[in-house]
Amino acid sequence: MKGIAVVAAVGSLLATTIQARDGVVRFDIKRRQHNVPPRLARRSESTLPVSLANNVENGAYFVDVSMGTPPQRLSLQLDTGSSDTWAPLTSASICQRSAGNPQGCSFGAFNPNTSSTFKDIGPNQFSITYGDNTMSTGDYFSDVLEIGGTELKNFTMGLGANTTNSWGLVGVGYASGEAITQSGQNLAAEYPNLPAFLMEKNMINTVAYSLWLNDLQASTGNILFGAIDTEQYHGDLVRVNVLKDPRIGIIDQFTVALTSIQAVSSTGNDSLSSLEFPIAVDLDSGTTLSLLPTDLAEEVWREAGASYDTDAQSALIPCSRSNSSGYFAFGFGGEGGPVINVHMSELVLPLVVNTTAEQTTCRFGIQNMTASPDALYLFGDTILRSAYVVYDLVNNEVGIAQTNLNATSTNVVAFASSGAPIPSSTPAPSQAQIANNASSTTPPSFSAELGFGNGTTGSGNGNAGSTPSVLDYPQLVFIGVSVFFAMAGSGFFML
Ligand SMILES: *[C@@H]1O[C@H](CO)[C@@H](O)[C@H](O)[C@H]1NC(C)=O
Ligand SMILES: *[C@@H]1O[C@H](CO)[C@@H](O)[C@H](O)[C@H]1NC(C)=O
Ligand SMILES: *[C@@H]1O[C@H](CO)[C@@H](O)[C@H](O)[C@H]1NC(C)=O
Ligand SMILES: *[C@@H]1O[C@H](CO)[C@@H](O)[C@H](O)[C@H]1NC(C)=O
Ligand SMILES: *[C@@H]1O[C@H](CO)[C@@H](O)[C@H](O)[C@H]1NC(C)=O
Ligand SMILES: *[C@@H]1O[C@H](CO)[C@@H](O)[C@H](O)[C@H]1NC(C)=O
Ligand SMILES: *[C@@H]1O[C@H](CO)[C@@H](O)[C@H](O)[C@H]1NC(C)=O
Ligand SMILES: *[C@@H]1O[C@H](CO)[C@@H](O)[C@H](O)[C@H]1NC(C)=O
Ligand SMILES: *[C@@H]1O[C@H](CO)[C@@H](O)[C@H](O)[C@H]1NC(C)=O
Ligand SMILES: *[C@@H]1O[C@H](CO)[C@@H](O)[C@H](O)[C@H]1NC(C)=O
Repeated sequence: MKGIAVVAAVGSLLATTIQARDGVVRFDIKRRQHNVPPRLARRSESTLPVSLANNVENGAYFVDVSMGTPPQRLSLQLDTGSSDTWAPLTSASICQRSAGNPQGCSFGAFNPNTSSTFKDIGPNQFSITYGDNTMSTGDYFSDVLEIGGTELKNFTMGLGANTTNSWGLVGVGYASGEAITQSGQNLAAEYPNLPAFLMEKNMINTVAYSLWLNDLQASTGNILFGAIDTEQYHGDLVRVNVLKDPRIGIIDQFTVALTSIQAVSSTGNDSLSSLEFPIAVDLDSGTTLSLLPTDLAEEVWREAGASYDTDAQSALIPCSRSNSSGYFAFGFGGEGGPVINVHMSELVLPLVVNTTAEQTTCRFGIQNMTASPDALYLFGDTILRSAYVVYDLVNNEVGIAQTNLNATSTNVVAFASSGAPIPSSTPAPSQAQIANNASSTTPPSFSAELGFGNGTTGSGNGNAGSTPSVLDYPQLVFIGVSVFFAMAGSGFFML
């Protein structure tokens, strides 16, 4: 799934970012391409490195590709939460520029009429609805896709003839999560999507890739198919199991067990509690914010100095808190499993994008949701940026380590063979016991809370009540809670 989440994720929309959605936000693709540094890793045997551009305004990571013959250039959003690659059709109504829609499809659109290698293979069979309720429908087609300097011939993609999203996506999730299999649960209709296709063409040794999103402030990250880069993380890569989707009993997304959260600051170290541990969370690079159960989110907010604003239907925080030296340690897969430290600088996001006005109130990167049968909790970019994550779609394991922000050197290690374990990794030792362990529901003493105020200005130490009112922002447009619940539908394709 993807959400355009700086913006739309949690029930309040900002006028400026609605405009961003409709394309008012100016986007200079050339400049972005210019900003993409040389690839961190040279193409070596059995690997495919692809650069990602971090588009902070849209809260998403983009990959530059071309489609067709001769090549048509596009930028597509990378998404671990969905499984189809698709592009908007040049004649789609959202791509038609007008006074109300001056940007059209500024990230690029595809015109099959001018590609000599285009083949229509599935009339009206492509139909997807994302967690943020945007949708795209049209035909499946095959054509040449150029990605990371490599040309893939006869690659299957969707064509967004009728879409509410003005740019396309590269979904790198499980093939079982393709839109065509989810509609009517028809697994037989599965086709090789990008990771599976690279494997089928022997370009990688196994269906796996590593994702390094890098710093919130950094302009680029990197996805490396078929390999890991040992310079892009600190400590050890520890593997945890990918869990079945409880809704349909198969593995179709990257769901892992979150088993602990600690709040750490100069004044203490608290183990946070929740009735819901162990918590099944989806690792979803296509969503900006992260969503936790309300009981746990409330403890996180109190430690961090955030507070829930009922008008914004969202947790807000003084922007100065991005300077806090406090952090949260997220533990996966039980005792001895991987632990990711997420610093406050990654968790404080601007409330209004592209304004020259000084902002004192920011959006907090961890929001809450209420579980429903078809919604899973979610770790989006606010947490994933701090993690180096290796997705192994053959063994159904995910390797997690603390990211090395702004890494400049590289050491690429390819997977040895199909089904080989993640290189240089060890399994989380106590996963088998997770289910048996009742989680601690003793609330913490909040000894870390005071220290989260250390290093920040103006707001007092740990005083959540000091969050300025969002009503200071005339740009804010609040819409019904229904959008939030639609979003919390969390990647269930509504077909
Ligand atoms: C961002 O703000 C600047 C200055 O106010 C303005 O010139 C520019 O057009 C804005 N960009 C977008 C995408 O709205
Ligand atoms: C492709 O050509 C057909 C027939 O001329 C036309 O109807 C259609 O609109 C064209 N598609 C695009 C995307 O331009
Ligand atoms: C193109 O891909 C489709 C679907 O994967 C396959 O059925 C077909 O044989 C391929 N065509 C060529 C020319 O490789
Ligand atoms: C586009 O899809 C929407 C939602 O399914 C539908 O209501 C609308 O009629 C479609 N428009 C066209 C032109 O097919
Ligand atoms: C990484 O680089 C960005 C952009 O240059 C910078 O803002 C950020 O502070 C750096 N982060 C670290 C951890 O060095
Ligand atoms: C917090 O304290 C616990 C128990 O003393 C310890 O195991 C853990 O490593 C500490 N965590 C951090 C991040 O300091
Ligand atoms: C963070 O601290 C620096 C140095 O004290 C200050 O210049 C900056 O404005 C602070 N940032 C925020 C968001 O408060
Ligand atoms: C389960 O609980 C026991 C006793 O509290 C603890 O020692 C162990 O580490 C826990 N195991 C996991 C996987 O959390
Ligand atoms: C989120 O938490 C707030 C405050 O704790 C609560 O009022 C709200 O209902 C929660 N939202 C959801 C979707 O659970
Ligand atoms: C703030 O941090 C400094 C340096 O880490 C430390 O000496 C000081 O005791 C801290 N103050 C509080 C209130 O935590």
